[in-house]
Amino acid sequence: MAYQVRNLESSDFPALMRMEREIFGAAGEEVLGPYYVRLCCDFFSSNCFLVLSDGEPVGYLLSFLKGREAYCSTLAVAPSHQGTRAVHLLIRAFVRSIMDQVDVCWFTVSEENQAARALHQTLGATEVGRRHDFYGPGDTRIVSCIDRDAFQKLRQRYEKLGLVPPRPAPRAEPTVLLEAAQ
Ligand SMILES: CC(C)(COP(=O)(O)OP(=O)(O)OC[C@H]1O[C@@H](n2cnc3c(N)ncnc32)[C@H](O)[C@@H]1OP(=O)(O)O)[C@@H](O)C(=O)NCCC(=O)NCCS
Repeated sequence: MAYQVRNLESSDFPALMRMEREIFGAAGEEVLGPYYVRLCCDFFSSNCFLVLSDGEPVGYLLSFLKGREAYCSTLAVAPSHQGTRAVHLLIRAFVRSIMDQVDVCWFTVSEENQAARALHQTLGATEVGRRHDFYGPGDTRIVSCIDRDAFQKLRQRYEKLGLVPPRPAPRAEPTVLLEAAQ
């Protein structure tokens, strides 16, 4: 299956709201509110991505940055495209976009969401705690984070795979010392 990934655009709003209903709503979960989705399309779009199959949106990753921290708020792929490479393309685009902008990236995930937890782990994220009553009474989320060291390792892996250009080596200081004027 050929997929394309690109940044969100303002006109993606209806497709995102539809996928929220089809992916989360159909599974009996809460869906994102239109205000946040609109913000992602119009304001946070440089770090939010859509994956398309034959021009049709089939998945998305939403995130925002605060200083040198990223927060990945949603990652979702339509059931008909789960288990394909679509999710990896979204993650790759996201990692490339934040790699040089942040030191830390946060995720939250429910205990039973093994696929999402496995994906976070492959990025080098570690589970650092649990938040209770996160989206409402009784809702517990695992908080995980890619820290500075994990980002360093991720960068090396991406460089090896040719997904990001190598960081330019720091400029060498001149080695010739000027003799002190007599
Ligand atoms: C989470 C989600 C985006 C993952 O996408 P997906 O296409 O289903 O992911 P995959 O089935 O390809 O699995 C991703 C990786 O996790 C691994 N994985 C999947 N289920 C797993 C399980 N039960 N235990 C361990 N690893 C698992 C897979 O092996 C795969 O790794 P690989 O590509 O190296 O083989 C998708 O399932 C989804 O949209 N779910 C509904 C929305 C959601 O829960 N989003 C996350 C919270 S915001």
